[in-house]
Amino acid sequence: MLVPLPVLSGAPERTVDPAQVPEDFGLTYDPARAATEVLTDGFGRRHTYLRISLIEHCNLRCRYCMPEEGLTWTPPEHLLTDEEIIRLARLFVAQGVTKIRLTGGEPLLRKGIEHIVAKLARLPGLKTIAMTTNGLLLAKKLDRLKAAGLTQLNISLDTLRPDRFEILTRRKGLAQVLEAIDLALAHGYRPLKVNCVVLRGFNDDELLDFAAWTKDRPVEVRFIEFMPFDGNGWSAGQLVSAAEMRARIEAHYSLKPLRVDPNGTARLFQIPGHQGWLGFIASMTEPFCEGCNRLRITADGSLKVCLFGQAEVSLRDALRQGATDAELLALISAAIGRKHARHAGMHHLAQRKNRPMITIGG
Ligand code: 5AD
Ligand code: SF4
Repeated sequence: MLVPLPVLSGAPERTVDPAQVPEDFGLTYDPARAATEVLTDGFGRRHTYLRISLIEHCNLRCRYCMPEEGLTWTPPEHLLTDEEIIRLARLFVAQGVTKIRLTGGEPLLRKGIEHIVAKLARLPGLKTIAMTTNGLLLAKKLDRLKAAGLTQLNISLDTLRPDRFEILTRRKGLAQVLEAIDLALAHGYRPLKVNCVVLRGFNDDELLDFAAWTKDRPVEVRFIEFMPFDGNGWSAGQLVSAAEMRARIEAHYSLKPLRVDPNGTARLFQIPGHQGWLGFIASMTEPFCEGCNRLRITADGSLKVCLFGQAEVSLRDALRQGATDAELLALISAAIGRKHARHAGMHHLAQRKNRPMITIGG
């Protein structure tokens, strides 16, 4: 059953001290929206979390992420360079972003990723540098990433069964992912988040196995509702709602609610006596748009203010046309100002065009 979406109030009044508006802010810019308000949208949401996709390629082919027929990859010269990424990151952090997550495709396929992390780590005000990875290359790179300043890791794992892993990802690799999880724990990554997209008739019979798996591992297993993206074969029938997932686990275990982060997407619960805990991410049935503090930059340099929105602004084109920082900020602020209160609901999303997930950044 769908839970009605919350009704959001209109945009709050902005009060801006003109003395705070930088003089070189750009002529097309409305000073009433300037200063530290650049990252605040019309609904008062402050965007302090930026997700940057480093690459479109991946060494897996997860069915819920990549279209079966494959993709035409963006030519490498159209992707952001390291310097462009750092320039944009610096700009966002100076405006108040405190957390950056590196995504992909598979971010570990990006050459020199540790240098990007090291440069990000030097940005004053940036508190968290996170990465979402499938873990396959982690053993090779974790030492260097940790030394460079990577503070948080999410590893994708949708099944604990090797045969299923191969069907879902169209590749082998479960043992490597499990090793990557142990390695990240050994390196002290806490909480270590494990992303599990739940698909009815495919892995929903593993909910209890994953719950049991948290007994001796300090991991946060995050069960994620299946979301529609271009070419991923989404159907409402395959979606298992977070409420159903929880009920199915609660039929066997008692779940103690944990305190939640207001901008967090997961509702967290722990099975008493377990080291790890469970999160439920109801992006489809109980969208968390009102607390959304996220922005995304795709590997080809487009700013997406909503995962499900078609609206994009090419920061890459602006950068390459020689935009000043002020001009870039004006573009960013205008895009954020156009952000909608919430996404259109899952049935609309399923019919609407969006990029495939792999080109947005998970
Ligand atoms: N539905 C839900 N989550 C998805 N991801 C990718 N595609 C989907 C989808 N269709 C998320 C998963 C994965 C990360 C890379 O992106 O959490 O672990
Ligand atoms: Fe690769 Fe992650 Fe997409 Fe799977 S979900 S194909 S691992 S980017």
